[in-house]
Amino acid sequence: MLKIGVLISGGGTNLQAIIDNCENGKIDGEVVCVISSSKLAYGLTRAKRHNIPAYAVRKKDFETPCEAEREMLSILEKHGAEIAVTAGFLSVLSPEFIRNFPGRVINIHPSLIPSFCGKGFYGLKVHEAALETGVKITGATVHFADEGCDTGPIILQKAVEVKPGDTAEVLQKRVMEEAEHVILPKAIQMIAKGEI
Ligand code: GAR
Repeated sequence: MLKIGVLISGGGTNLQAIIDNCENGKIDGEVVCVISSSKLAYGLTRAKRHNIPAYAVRKKDFETPCEAEREMLSILEKHGAEIAVTAGFLSVLSPEFIRNFPGRVINIHPSLIPSFCGKGFYGLKVHEAALETGVKITGATVHFADEGCDTGPIILQKAVEVKPGDTAEVLQKRVMEEAEHVILPKAIQMIAKGEI
């Protein structure tokens, strides 16, 4: 059973997809801890409902961002997390964090990388940019995190249609349901099975 640590910042629908797929046997793994960058994240409630240890680690509570990351690493280690999944975690991890978890941090991004990614592209902003550009196809990407922002080897991508009249909110929901909640659990299962 792959021990999975999940890092979140908000609603946690991707976290929920991981938990559900662990519970229904589609992922040979378990979520051992959830760490949020905000105390108010609804994802923390989702974790507690499934009796998963849940923590809020806020950079502002520490003297340096580095100390906050050390706290996150010690939580992941305490629970024996073998991989860390950033699922809507809206803070960029430092190269030091990635070096401490080499090749074991994966990220979900709500576009087809290399479109609409990098600094400043997160959450709704990604979908606003897609609509502004007028693309007809968007999607989501799961990739290994490296020391850059939304860079690192791509594991899976899935395309989603942009429909006439879409708002950023409507598009975000379609990308989550049709792509993110499908490819993120699938990528984790590929790791659990040792396929990548
Ligand atoms: C998701 O769409 C995720 O792909 C995105 O934030 C949302 C979080 O939703 N992440 C990024 O934009 C990172 N660059 P969730 O909390 O419901 O999973």
